[in-house]
Amino acid sequence: MTSQEIRQTFLDFFKEKAHQIVPSAPLVVKDDPTLMFTNAGMNPFKDLFLGNKPITVPRIANTQKCLRVSGKHNDLEEVGHDTYHHTMFEMLGNWSFGDYFKKEAIEWAWELLTQRYKLPTDRLYATVFGGDAADNLPQDTEAATLWAQFLPKERILQASKKDNFWEMGDTGPCGPCTEIHVDLRSEAERKAVEGATLVNQDHPQVIEIWNLVFMQFNRMADGSLVKLPKQHVDTGMGFERLTAALQGKKSNYDTDIFQPTIQHLGKKANLSYGQDTKADIALRVIADHIRAVAFAIADGEMPSNNKAGYVIRRILRRAVRYGYTFLGFREPFMYELVGLLAMQFADVFPELKSQQAFVEKVIQSEEEAFLRTLENGLRRLGQIFEQNQNATAKKIEGELVFELYDTFGFPADLTALIARENGFDIDEKGFEKAMQTQKERSRAAASSDKSDWQELQVSEGVQVEFLGYERLESQAKILKYRQIKEKNKTFYQIVLDQTPFYAESGGQVGDTGLLVSVEDASDTIEIFDTQKENDLIIHLSTKLPKNPSATFRATVNAQKRHHTANNHSATHLLHAALREVLGEHVQQKGSLVNENLLRFDFSHFAKMSEEEILKVESLVNQRIRKNILLQEMRNVPLEDAKKMGAMALFGEKYGEFVRVIVFDKDYSVELCGGTHVAATGQIGFFKIVREESVAAGVRRIEAITAEKAEQFVQEQNLLLNTLKETLKNPKDLTKTVQDLIEDKKRLEKEIERLQAKEIAQVREALLTKVKLHQGDINLIAEKVEVPHAEALKTLAFGIRQQIDRLFMVLTAEIEARPHIAIAISDKLVEDKGLDASKIIKDLAKHIQGGGGGQKFFATAAGKNAAGLKEVLEKAKDLV
Ligand code: SER
Repeated sequence: MTSQEIRQTFLDFFKEKAHQIVPSAPLVVKDDPTLMFTNAGMNPFKDLFLGNKPITVPRIANTQKCLRVSGKHNDLEEVGHDTYHHTMFEMLGNWSFGDYFKKEAIEWAWELLTQRYKLPTDRLYATVFGGDAADNLPQDTEAATLWAQFLPKERILQASKKDNFWEMGDTGPCGPCTEIHVDLRSEAERKAVEGATLVNQDHPQVIEIWNLVFMQFNRMADGSLVKLPKQHVDTGMGFERLTAALQGKKSNYDTDIFQPTIQHLGKKANLSYGQDTKADIALRVIADHIRAVAFAIADGEMPSNNKAGYVIRRILRRAVRYGYTFLGFREPFMYELVGLLAMQFADVFPELKSQQAFVEKVIQSEEEAFLRTLENGLRRLGQIFEQNQNATAKKIEGELVFELYDTFGFPADLTALIARENGFDIDEKGFEKAMQTQKERSRAAASSDKSDWQELQVSEGVQVEFLGYERLESQAKILKYRQIKEKNKTFYQIVLDQTPFYAESGGQVGDTGLLVSVEDASDTIEIFDTQKENDLIIHLSTKLPKNPSATFRATVNAQKRHHTANNHSATHLLHAALREVLGEHVQQKGSLVNENLLRFDFSHFAKMSEEEILKVESLVNQRIRKNILLQEMRNVPLEDAKKMGAMALFGEKYGEFVRVIVFDKDYSVELCGGTHVAATGQIGFFKIVREESVAAGVRRIEAITAEKAEQFVQEQNLLLNTLKETLKNPKDLTKTVQDLIEDKKRLEKEIERLQAKEIAQVREALLTKVKLHQGDINLIAEKVEVPHAEALKTLAFGIRQQIDRLFMVLTAEIEARPHIAIAISDKLVEDKGLDASKIIKDLAKHIQGGGGGQKFFATAAGKNAAGLKEVLEKAKDLV
C-alpha cells in the first residue's frame, strides 16, 4: 500500500465503526498555556476528557499533525540520528468520549492491524500497565486478559509507569495504556534473539506503533490524580512507523513518505542515500525538519525569537546547519522542498499547497539570514583559533562555546567538531554550566505558580454560556477560581456560570469591567482582562470578592467594547479590500484589535504603493458609507460555511459548527467569534496610518476608525494650517516649500564660497606675520576672525602646509566663545619634542576650557574670551 492508502484505510475502518472523521487541528496550540504545539492526537479533545465541554459526538477518528520538540514530549535530539523518531509526525487516532472502552479499543486495533493491514501476527507484542505503588494504581489485568484472546502469554508484557501510563504534560488528562509493538527484524535475527527481550529497549526495528490510552484521571498541579467524570479511549498510531512496517522497510525514511525529499536532496548534493553515515543523518534531519517547519508556518507560526516561533527557528537552523556541514550546501535549499511536500499532502493537509509561495519565501529568507550568521560564527571561531594559537592549553572556554551557541546558533557539537579540525578542544563542562545558568534565568522569568481550582459549584460538563454577543450585562455566579502567582504579580482567575465578557481570541482583546455583588454593592471587583484557556472563559482580577458565593452583576466596559467592535468589523472590511486590490494570495497572518486601533498582518510580497493604500482605504470607506447590516450566523456546519465562501484561517482550530460574520455576502464572509458592529455605518471613518514589513512575505497595516480616525485627520489638518500660516498662506504650498529648500541650498553654497574667500584673505594676512624665533622656529601667534570652528582648522592646516618649522597658535572668538588652535610642523615635533595636545591643555586653562588633539595639531574651546590675550602671550613665552 502507498502511504496514502494506508492512511485512508485507517479512516475508512473507523468510519465503519461509527466514528466521525474530522480534519487535523493546527500544529500550533493557541489557547492552552501548558502547550506550545499539538504533541498528541488527543490535545484538541482535552476539554472533552476533562469535562469542560459537553460531549456531542462520542466517537471520532482522524490523522493529526503532531510536533514533539518541547516540554514533556521532546524527541528533537534523536531525530535524524535514528530512523524512527520525528519532529512532526502524523498520529492516526480513534477516540471514544465516554463511549466504548478497553474491549472495543483492543479488539478493533487487532482487527485493523492483522485483518486489514495484514501484519503478521507473530511479529506483534502488547505491553500492559504493570501498576504503580506511588500513585496507588493496580496493574491492568483487564487489558492483559483481552490481549490473551489474540496473543500468547509470552508476547503480552508488563511495563512500568514510565512506558505505560500516558500523560499529556505535567498536569492534565492521563491514564494507563497498552502499546502494540512490531518486530521488523529479519527471520534470522528473530531466531537468534527473542523479540520480547527487545521491546521498549530502543531497538530501531522493534518499535512501538500504536498506543491505546484508557483515560481515567486528571493529574493535578500537586501531583495527585483525580478521577475523570467518565472513562475515555485515546489511541495514537505512528503513521510513519506503520507505513515502514507495511512497506517492509527497516526505517521510516525508506518509505514513500520521505523518499521524494531525500532523493531530491541527494541529487542536489551529488550523493546517494545509504553511502555515508554522516550524510545520511543530514539527509534524514532535513527531510524530517522541513515538514515541521513548513507546516508550522502554514499553521501560522512564524520563525522568531520568542517561544513557539523560536522553537521553529531552531528546528530550521538545525537542518540548515546539517546541510551546510555534511552536504556542503552554501545557498538556501530548504525552501525548494516545500513544493514537494505541498503536492504530497494536498489532499490531507491542503493548508500547505494553498500557501506554498508564502511558506517558501519565509523559509528562504530565514535560511539566508542563518547562512550569514553561520559564516559570521565561523569567522568568530577563526579569530579565537588565531588568538590562542600559542596558548599552552588549546581549549575553547565554555563561555565562548555558549556565546557561539546563543548568538550564532552553533550547537556545542559543531563547535567541538570545527575546534578539533583546528587542533583545539572545547570546555564541555563550562558550556553545560553556562547553559544551565541561562536555563535557570529563563525558568525564573517564566515561572508561574498556579493553585488548584477552588470549586464553588459543580463545573464539570457545564457549558458556560457566553452572552456577550447580545448583552453587556448579566447575572453570574462564580463556578470556580484559583490564584496565580507570577514573578511580579499575583492575581485570580475566575470562571462564571454565564458571562457577557468576551475572552481574548481571534486577535480581539479581552473585555474589562466589573463584578458587583447583588446583595452588597460594596463587594465589587474589577475584571482587568478576560482570557480563554481550553475553551473556558477566564476573568482576571487582582482580588476576590469578599463573598465569592454571592450572585453578581457582571458588567462589561461598554465604551471599550464599542470601539473594539468598530475596529474588528473594519478589519473584516480591510481583509476583503486587500484581496480585491492586491489579489487572492492575501491571507491573514495575524491581527490585533483593541479599542485604539487595528493591526492586520497578511501575506504579500511587496511594499504597498501609495495608490494601492488609497484604493484599499476608499473601498473600506465606501462599504462603511453603505451602512451594510451585520449578518451573524451561529452554529453553521463548517462545510456549509465553506460553501458560502467563508474565509477560514489556516492555523485556527474550528469545531464542526462555526460562527459566520457577513458584511454583504458578495464582499466579506468570515469565520469569526469576535464582536461586531450592527451595521458598518457605526465605524464612521477608516484611516490607514501605517504600512510596513514585519517578516519575509508578511506586511502589516495599522489603521484607526471612528473618533480616533477623525481626531487623526483633525490633527493633520491643524498641522497643515499652521504650516500654511507660517508661510503666509501661499497658493501652492508644496511649491513654496520646494522653493524654500532650493533657495536654502543655493544660499549655503554662496556662503561657503564667500567664507572660503574670507579665509584666504586671513591666511594671506597671517603669512605676513611670521616671525623667526631663536633662529630656527617660525612663530605665529595671532587672533583671527573666522566664521566657525571648521574654518579655524582649515586655516591652520593651510598655513602648516605652507611654512616649514612652524609653531603657530591661533585664537578666535566664534559665536562669543573663545577658541584656540595649535599647529606644529612635524620637524619641530621630532626635533624639539613639542606636543600640541599637551600644550593646548595648559593654554586652555586661560579660557576656562578644555581640548585635545595630536602632537602636530590640537584645538580647544572655552568660556572666558577675555583669557585669549593671555593665551597668545603664554604661547610666545613657551616657545
Ligand atoms: N495520547 C497517546 C499518545 O500520544 C495516544 O494517542 O501516545
